[in-house]
Amino acid sequence: MTRNAISLNGSWTSRWVFILAATGSAVGLGNIWKFPYMTGMYGGGAFVMMYLVCIVLVGMPIMIAETLIGRRARMSPVNAMRSLAVEAGASPRFAWPALIGMVAALLILSFYSVIAGWSLDYILGMGTGRFQSVDANAAGALFAGLTADPWRLTIWHTLFMALTGFVIARGVVAGLEKSLRVMMPLLFVLLLMLLGYSVTTGHFMQGFHFLFNFQPDKVLDGLLAAMGHAFFTLSVGVGSIMVYGSYMPRQASIGATVLTVGILDTLVALTAGMALFPIVFAGGLEPGAGPGLMFVTLPVAFGSIPFGQVMGTVFFVLVLIAAWTSSISMLEPAVAYLVERTGRSRVAITTVLAMLCWLVGMGTVLSFNVGAPAKFFVFAEDGFHFFQWGAEGGRNFFDSIDYLTSRILLPLGGLAFVLFAGWVLTRDTVRDELNMRSPLAFTLVYWSMRVVAPVGVLVVFVAELAKQ
Ligand code: PHE
Repeated sequence: MTRNAISLNGSWTSRWVFILAATGSAVGLGNIWKFPYMTGMYGGGAFVMMYLVCIVLVGMPIMIAETLIGRRARMSPVNAMRSLAVEAGASPRFAWPALIGMVAALLILSFYSVIAGWSLDYILGMGTGRFQSVDANAAGALFAGLTADPWRLTIWHTLFMALTGFVIARGVVAGLEKSLRVMMPLLFVLLLMLLGYSVTTGHFMQGFHFLFNFQPDKVLDGLLAAMGHAFFTLSVGVGSIMVYGSYMPRQASIGATVLTVGILDTLVALTAGMALFPIVFAGGLEPGAGPGLMFVTLPVAFGSIPFGQVMGTVFFVLVLIAAWTSSISMLEPAVAYLVERTGRSRVAITTVLAMLCWLVGMGTVLSFNVGAPAKFFVFAEDGFHFFQWGAEGGRNFFDSIDYLTSRILLPLGGLAFVLFAGWVLTRDTVRDELNMRSPLAFTLVYWSMRVVAPVGVLVVFVAELAKQ
């Protein structure tokens, strides 16, 4: 096989652009919206601790594995896995995990677009002063008003999907670089300002304690959730990082690059958590409130600080951009694959895929209002039901897609990728691609891919099953 020097779908101009793009993919709603509400739902410190452990022991090795597979093959994930497998004398069926990952990424995009749509609505709301000096109750009512209105949700969902498709159609490599350079640092500065505000609420220590107070007896409760979130927040297990890796310059160091991305992603999440929880406690809000947590707490903060209206607007613009740079990485693996496979234009392929994701996303739109009683995966006294209208418990459409992707498909996909890098590729290939100066560092990374990460994923799955 001749290996392309450059992927059909483009190439980054430098290592920094890969860092920016991968950080853009990793930092998103997962950090600012999902991490705090998951932490709240699973009781705080135990969840945070397990999440950090999973990032280090499982997430980072998988991220390295994906990057190196992508860069080695310089093709979309499906073709990368297939060609490297064949080259190594293994079965072309190794393309399957990448194919499933590709679909999982599209499923994530379907709901991600709806939530990102909320921040579009909040940009408008903040800008027009809808949240001026609201208290926690009023903010809660405004949020409930948004999610109860399928039309409003649909408009924003449509707009966000179009934004995502727009960048993808033009080509990721061209569009991303400029926006990321400005937006990443700015997002961080604004988060720090929010953190500054949180210190003044008088509940900072309570928030801090909630996040970092480790309760060993709660570890099992949120273990699978924490691992799933580690995958989600790093964008691993679906091929997003792999496809970005395939655009990475040959000479760039994978280890150092991936480490940077992981650290930035974790910092943003922890800062968001530390900024949010003091506001939650100061406003007498419920930490376990679920997906609305950020959308209820932040307006309260912005409603009561000087220049809050401007800062709030800017903040939600940044959330939007963070979500945008993540959502394009969900669409890219499938678009890259179909371009390679069919030879059709990016524009046509993007349009079709974005419309499909939009349609599935309508399920999430409706799950917050008229479709809320539709429950999937119901474990009731009389056994398991796949679908039940109005069942107590069970998961609605949004919960189901989230559960299926984060807790099942991402970990399985990541497991397949890391096993592939550790056991199918030869040690020489991996060493050559990682190109690390220190032999000790290489050995550590190599064994973390071969053993630590796979065992980690399996242990969490077994612990979850044992819990049932
Ligand atoms: N990492 C992104 C976030 O934290 C979400 C994501 C998941 C992106 C999977 C790509 C693939 O918001």
